Amino acid sequence: MMKLSTWNQRIARWVAVGLVLLTQSIASANSLAVKLDHAPIDPTDTASLQRGAQHFMNYCMNCHGAQFARFDLLTRLGLTEEQVKKNLILTDAKIADYMTVVLNPKDAKAWFGVPPPDLSVETRVRGSDWIYTYLRSFYRDDNRESGWNNRVFPGVAMPNVLYELQGEQELKPGEGPEGQHHASLILAKPGKMSPQEFDRFTADLVNYLEFMAEPARETRIHIGYFAMIFLVIAFFVARALKHEYWKDVH
Ligand code: HEC
Repeated sequence: MMKLSTWNQRIARWVAVGLVLLTQSIASANSLAVKLDHAPIDPTDTASLQRGAQHFMNYCMNCHGAQFARFDLLTRLGLTEEQVKKNLILTDAKIADYMTVVLNPKDAKAWFGVPPPDLSVETRVRGSDWIYTYLRSFYRDDNRESGWNNRVFPGVAMPNVLYELQGEQELKPGEGPEGQHHASLILAKPGKMSPQEFDRFTADLVNYLEFMAEPARETRIHIGYFAMIFLVIAFFVARALKHEYWKDVH
């Protein structure tokens, strides 16, 4: 039997997730003005998920944690524990540890004004299309302290951490009085990757975030089938029993 304290922790965790989902979905309702690009992701593409995991560890985990996911989760992506330890754990964390963030919340608050949120269930909060578009929508803005702004998340506190790969975008207002609504992003300074390569990079990352938010998706679907089959069988058994009980009454 599971210890009571473990259950308490679990319940607390889910309540926390619920609150985050609620507050963030209210917040995201304000920023839906920009059309989102469809994230070209495939949850069965293991190579893409492995690349995504690598990108996440390299580029996101200095600021963001994923405190509901453990490193050993990565062994489900066709990697051995050794490979995970060698290539994906960049701190002194152990394989059974949760992916907690290194940055302490006080420093984060001081540096960014807002602590970078936990990304364990981020795709369920914002949706994969939103994150895919967000990561590709940073542009240079001298009015912002970080030097960056974002079309999908105006005034965001996160700098464009991928600019070396992507290059630097600028916002070009559209024509006419409504111009601001038709502004477009142009690549003013190319990065190490071509736009296509960068799209692939971001898609892999989002694919991984999606996996992390619901690693049990495939198991869940299987259990669903078993439950359905069980219910069908139970239905016939119940019906046979009913006939048996009532047969003398009629
Ligand atoms: C230098 C620190 C830093 C790094 C590195 C970083 N972020 Fe962020 N990120 C932030 C901060 C700070 C915020 C909070 C922004 C705000 O609320 O204004 C944020 C916000 C976000 C959000 C929006 C969260 C929400 O729902 O409000 C997403 C998504 C995100 N980051 C994804 C990523 C991904 C993916 C990476 C890796 C490529 C990454 N971040 C790397 C600092 C960082």
